[in-house]
Parts: sequence; structure tokens; C-alpha cells
Amino acid sequence: MLLKKKEIGSYFNIPFNLIFKKKINCFPKTILLSSGRDCLSYIIESNKWGCNNRILMPSYLCESILEPFKKKKIKIIFYKIKKSMEIDHKDLKLKISKGKFDAILTIDYFGLIKQELQKFPEKEKIIHLNDQVQSFLSNTKKEGDYIFNSYRKFLCLPDGSYLKVKNKSKEQIKLKRSIPHSLFIVTKLISGLLKNIPFLKLMFRALFEISEKKLINYDKPAKMSKISKILLSRTNFVEIKKKRRENYLFLNDKIKEMKNIKPLISKIKAEDCPIGFPIICKNRDKLKKHLIKNKIYPPIHWNLPKEINKKEFKDSWNISKNILTIPIDQRYDEKDMQRIVNVINKYE
Ligand SMILES: Cc1ncc(COP(=O)(O)O)c(C=O)c1O
Repeated sequence: MLLKKKEIGSYFNIPFNLIFKKKINCFPKTILLSSGRDCLSYIIESNKWGCNNRILMPSYLCESILEPFKKKKIKIIFYKIKKSMEIDHKDLKLKISKGKFDAILTIDYFGLIKQELQKFPEKEKIIHLNDQVQSFLSNTKKEGDYIFNSYRKFLCLPDGSYLKVKNKSKEQIKLKRSIPHSLFIVTKLISGLLKNIPFLKLMFRALFEISEKKLINYDKPAKMSKISKILLSRTNFVEIKKKRRENYLFLNDKIKEMKNIKPLISKIKAEDCPIGFPIICKNRDKLKKHLIKNKIYPPIHWNLPKEINKKEFKDSWNISKNILTIPIDQRYDEKDMQRIVNVINKYE
């Protein structure tokens, strides 16, 4: 009998049994919202930012981060990210010296690169938004006036994110309830459950697409759903971190020996918990097709938005054209990682 190959990567399913597990976590003292974009909308509303405000953003990011700022017509100015994916401090300093800014956003990429903002007088007046969407499980010191994540990028949840606000006197925003938001949650929940049933895959896909492309445009900021809170309180973060690190280290040993593929980051620190295993490779799209043919689904983090100037931000575009993220999450073990290596070796 031909055994069907297990899928590696692709979207999370919501395991039926998680709801019945024992509660093991309490929530940190934070504002619990529905997504990363809800956190950004909360920050924007709380500071009453609009078309007269300016924010600095890294030249390496995804389209969805820009959405809440574009909606409010906030002026976005990009600063350079180096080949190593760290902030180009020279470029940042130059930009800050040339104009007045209300805020700066930094991203700790892949849970592996902790960005440090250098201290200098002009910067002190700029509000720091620290995007921890890819790094919230890394035990690094998290600095910033606002720190936020998006749980659903790491876990099987319909929605969920947290927002930490340093200055407690900041205005608190009333969270919005709406029918589209409830529909978003219900659709995500159903699609996450359907993902457990292989012959309903097409239905899962259709619902997932509708929720992530259309229903996600609900009025923000909205609060985290009750079902996500229940699932989160039963999630074993220690186990997740351990599995991700083990898988990462296993792949790192094998991939660093390869000729045409290089790990984007050469070292993983003891405190890091990666979102995936980013590689830089020749003929990225061909490798991606080869992996998909073998039921391995690697995302691209990220296809850059059109707002990033190709001439000014050459390094960012070079990374974006050659990057691929190999899945290493908690659903997989050493056997799955070895299968990935075998598939890549056939390609090499
Ligand atoms: C680094 C980063 N920040 C923010 C977001 C927005 O998060 P959400 O999709 O939960 O709104 C994303 C989404 O992919 C992201 O990757």
C-alpha cells in the first residue's frame, strides 16, 4: 500500500483535544487583542496619529504592517536594513537628523535577530513600537514604548495578540465589537477544525482564504476571542520552544554543509525561539516548487511591498528575492527534518 506523505508546513489545525486539556497558563498583564494589526490600530488611535504624523519603518517588512498606517494616511519613511538583517544605524541616524518623527517601528526578525536602538538625543522623543510577532517566545530583553505580538503566527488559534504599553497614563481605547469580527473568528475556528479532516481540505482552504483576505478587514482594534483565550491557557509554550529549537539545530547542522543553500543566520543563541529556518538560496522559486511537489510548504518572509524603493533598499530586495523559510514548528520532529534534508539534497 502506498503511504501518503505527511504535509510539512502550511496552516495550523486546531487540535480537537486542546480544549479539554488542563489550564496551564495565566495571561501576562497586557491588552489582549485579535491580531498584530489590531495592536497597531490601538497604538495609532491612542496617540491620535493622522496625516500630520510621521513614522520610521524598516525597509524589510510585510504589507500587512503598513495597512493600519496607510488607512490613517500617516507618512511612512523607511530606514535601511543591512544584509545581516540588523538596523543600519548610519542610515537611521541620518534620517532622524533630517526630519521630525513621532514613532519608529523595529522588528526582531525570525526570533533570531534582536534589534538594538542606539541612544541619541533626537531619538529620545520618538515613540518606539517593538514588533515581537516573530520573536515573542525568545527570552531576550524586550524594550519599547509599545511591545506587541500575534500569537496566531506561532500557534493553532483563530486569533490573538498582546500589547504591552510602557506609559500607563496613555489613553485607553474602547475595543470594537462588530459582526464582521465575530464572523472572522467563527470562520477561522471552523477552518482550523476542518484542517484535522484530510478529505475536507478544499473546504478548509476556501474558508481560510475568505477569513484572511476579506473578513480580516473588520473594524479595529477588537479584543481577543474567548475561544483563543481558552486555547492559549492550555498551550504548553515550554514544549513549543523546545521542539522548535531542536528542529532548528538539526537543520542547521545539515544545511550549513550545503553548496547552494545557506542559513540566513549562522548562530542561534540559547534564549532564541525561531519562527522558522530562513535560508538564502539560488533559484529560490525553483526550490520552492520542488519542496511543494514533495509536500513541504515553505513560506516567503516576505515579498516586499511596492512602497520599498528598489534602488535605495537594494539589500532588502536581494534578501526578499532569495529567501525561503523552512518550517520547523512544534508539529514536526527529527524524522520530518531529515525528510526535508533528503528532499533538498535531491534538488542540490
Ligand atoms: C512581523 C509582523 N508584524 C505584524 C504582522 C501583522 O500581524 P497580523 O497578521 O496578526 O495582523 C505580521 C503578519 O504577518 C508580521 O509578520
